Amino acid sequence: MCGIVGYIGSKEKTINVLLKGLERLEYRGYDSAGIAYLDQNQIQLIKKSGKLNCLEKSVDRNLLTEMGIGHTRWATHGEANEINAHPHRHGKIVAVHNGIIENMNALKKELEEKGISFVSDTDTEVFVALLNDAFEKYQDMKKAIEYTMSKVEGSYAIVCFNEDDKEHLYVMKKDSPLLIGVGMGEMFVASDYQAFREFTKKYVLLDDFEYGIIGKNAWHIYKDGKEVEKKLEVLDEQDILSNKEGYDCYMHKEIYDIPEVLTNLLTFYETKEIHSIPDYCKYNKIQIVACGSAYHAGCVGKNLFAHFAHFPVEIEYASEYRYQPILADEHTLVIFVSQSGETADTIHCAKKIKEMHIDSLAIVNVYNSTLSRLTDYVYYMRAGEERAVATTKGYSSQIALFIVILREWMKAKNTWTVSLEEQYQEGKRKMLQVIQPCFKNFEHFSWISNIISKPMNFFIGRQSDYALSLEASLKLKEVSYLNSSAYAAGELKHGTISLVEKGTPVFAIATDKNTYEKTKSNLMEVKARGAYVILTTLDTVDQEIDVDEKIIVPDVGALFQPIITIIPFQLLSYQVAKSLDLDIDHPRNLAKSVTVE
Ligand code: G6P
Repeated sequence: MCGIVGYIGSKEKTINVLLKGLERLEYRGYDSAGIAYLDQNQIQLIKKSGKLNCLEKSVDRNLLTEMGIGHTRWATHGEANEINAHPHRHGKIVAVHNGIIENMNALKKELEEKGISFVSDTDTEVFVALLNDAFEKYQDMKKAIEYTMSKVEGSYAIVCFNEDDKEHLYVMKKDSPLLIGVGMGEMFVASDYQAFREFTKKYVLLDDFEYGIIGKNAWHIYKDGKEVEKKLEVLDEQDILSNKEGYDCYMHKEIYDIPEVLTNLLTFYETKEIHSIPDYCKYNKIQIVACGSAYHAGCVGKNLFAHFAHFPVEIEYASEYRYQPILADEHTLVIFVSQSGETADTIHCAKKIKEMHIDSLAIVNVYNSTLSRLTDYVYYMRAGEERAVATTKGYSSQIALFIVILREWMKAKNTWTVSLEEQYQEGKRKMLQVIQPCFKNFEHFSWISNIISKPMNFFIGRQSDYALSLEASLKLKEVSYLNSSAYAAGELKHGTISLVEKGTPVFAIATDKNTYEKTKSNLMEVKARGAYVILTTLDTVDQEIDVDEKIIVPDVGALFQPIITIIPFQLLSYQVAKSLDLDIDHPRNLAKSVTVE
């Protein structure tokens, strides 16, 4: 989703910092990009639709300027073209924005009645026009900002500057992330510290309704007219900067990161003293709230709790949870799962739960992200930077954390038996042992041409295999654009089987020994109707079954099995996208950090 960068400082560095920053924010997903800077005391704008290299070609890297702002746009209001790309300018003011102005139509009407006209379809231009109108009235940027913030509804992280003031950048924040990077004689602004981490490790996090004035040597943050004191944060060094390290794309590299991530994560959480654990005995209900793949990891978590702890867990999409009555109380633990920790729907739910004084726990990757600051307990995924839009190591580490939490939970309730601990240790050992060879085995599926060009792919499974089917199907869709859906294996016959015809690919995941025979019957039903069946099952079950293809995964025991079983599907999605010559790390229309509802 939109990425914001701002810089004030050395005139030799500005353009470089803006372009580098935008590159670092590419992972968020975008469809146009632009920068604005001051040249001979005049605002200059360069905007291009498409990828960052289109913008980079048009920018003179040797240009000298002490201040500038940049933006990668993920279209919300209006097409992804040059006119709608940010920055937007009205009068003396130019700005970049992440978020959505919900009352843009009413504000636009008011401004149009005053004779102000608009060139783009964006809500951002309305924001800038309003700010400029207020500046013309007050002749004071701080007052103009306060007025504008009192009028707009919705979410925004804004960085702007005024053509007549080359000493300052101005920032505003509500519901979308915004940080100030603090350097020596230079300051940075960005929606994520990845944008400036090469230049400074010190930063300040803005909170909702805060706004600020930033010069190259000092920054001042305000709320409701009064200056607020802010804490200077220092970047966590364990959050290592990622690069492709010889892989052709980040997705591929990040799949290969999984063994190391899991080894470190499990070792870290086995050392109990170093993180704070909720009083699990207090709860009689768990609710899991998340979006996308994080929701799918939650589905695996729910299954683990049902099968091992016999404990009921509710799971909801954040976008649904926030609009329904919250059926939780002081005996409920709400677990939010999010790689970025910035997903707007998840954040809104976490705010609601905080207001209700209900206990919350975050499974989150990005250190100091909004979600991590809203919840009572934080379990960091410790997966390192994940740059491919489609999550792989993030998803695996979320599942691993559900195993960690299940173990802690059952230990607290005295139900974690010696035999379960043996299962855990043995499962972990086997999982870490077989995961590398798995990569080799699943690096090349000879039959992928049989699924490309088919109008539909189905994924079926039961219990945790159904949860994995949801993720496997999403992964394929996300990066390869092939149409695909996941169903609980027993449900296919209630309608969807009518879509199965000769050659329709059906991926049956059957690693759960308790339901293996049942899923086998379901796949025979589709096979009888001509489906091209790809069965995924364990190396320890009887594989005498007539299917078209088999993906045999090592049996590592029910606790850790989901982590192994998803690997071939992550690699399959990568291979299909590669064979179709698609932009694997930045699939069209997708964003990694979805900061709008
Ligand atoms: C986007 C991404 C998904 C991700 C989801 C939730 O839709 O494309 O890959 O699973 O957001 O993101 P989060 O950061 O909250 O895990």
